[in-house]
Amino acid sequence: MTTTDNTQPPRISASRRAGLAFVASALAVGFAGLAATPVLAQGFPNRQITLVVPFAAGGPSDVIGRLVAEHMSRTLGQQVIVENVAGAGGTTGAARVASAPADGHTVLIHHLALKAAPALYNNLRYDTATAFEPLGMINTGPMVITGKLDLAPKTAAEFFAHAKAQGDKLTMAHAGVGSNSHLCIILMGQAVGSKPTQVAYRGTGPAMNDLVGGQVDALCDQSTTAVPQVQGGKIRAYAVTSTERLDVIKDVPTTREAGTPIDMTIWHGLYAPKGTLAEAVTRLSTALQAAMKDDGINARFASFGTTAFPEAQRTPAAHKAAFDAEIAKWAKALKEAGVNPAAAN
Ligand code: MLT
Repeated sequence: MTTTDNTQPPRISASRRAGLAFVASALAVGFAGLAATPVLAQGFPNRQITLVVPFAAGGPSDVIGRLVAEHMSRTLGQQVIVENVAGAGGTTGAARVASAPADGHTVLIHHLALKAAPALYNNLRYDTATAFEPLGMINTGPMVITGKLDLAPKTAAEFFAHAKAQGDKLTMAHAGVGSNSHLCIILMGQAVGSKPTQVAYRGTGPAMNDLVGGQVDALCDQSTTAVPQVQGGKIRAYAVTSTERLDVIKDVPTTREAGTPIDMTIWHGLYAPKGTLAEAVTRLSTALQAAMKDDGINARFASFGTTAFPEAQRTPAAHKAAFDAEIAKWAKALKEAGVNPAAAN
């Protein structure tokens, strides 16, 4: 008969001890493994977040990115710091985020240049269609065709005639092949029959400095950074690429009114690397939504002639649908314009 002495721990056979040792070591590995995945264990975010702006400081993507980053920092309780990773029309910054860990601590602000790039670059280091997790759309607005103050044309019609007559004697700045400012030159060239000499910068921030300084003749820039310079009398605005005039520069006609229709509306979205943890996607998208509801941010947007997307269009699902549609749209437009892919830098 087996009696159980409750005062002593039960005697354990050698084989049972070996089995328990195995279980103990497996548990130890498991807990160690959990500690190695801080995002799961500590929740998101658990350290500062990097928001990559794929153009130089001072340009419109940088301005919008910093406004959004500052507000998201407050909502997320972690610093969202902006890092400018410029080059190759915004594809260098996109590649940086595409290859970042999918833990939500690296995100990208970008616009139609991200979607146009596959039609313009032969060897992108990422697959545009699958490399990113759309987090939500930010703002939308037109481009403004501008010139240095001492450029001869004074009106839109005079500028377009000048561009056609001058050909490659006219210099136009842009932020790299595939950037909004570059695509605007392509569309203008198609509408006017002009081929200006293109001068590439790492963003329209530095390009605008040269336009104000008179080192380059013209620039088609987002309203976000063009409007303040026009209002300050530093450059001349010829036309806006929206179908309606902008309240903030009311005397500037649309390209349609000027008889040379160039329709171009840009929008920024926020992206994470594909496969980013669902908890992080939700937290980031919610923080972006909060920023887009902020009165201060919307007042700044209005002063730039740009607006936040309506709430229903700011969801990741709506963003994904718009993203996919734009890739197809720009591939077709650029093919029709006879623009061939260049080798990515
Ligand atoms: C562009 O596409 O032209 C860029 O957004 C300009 C910039 O943000 O620097």
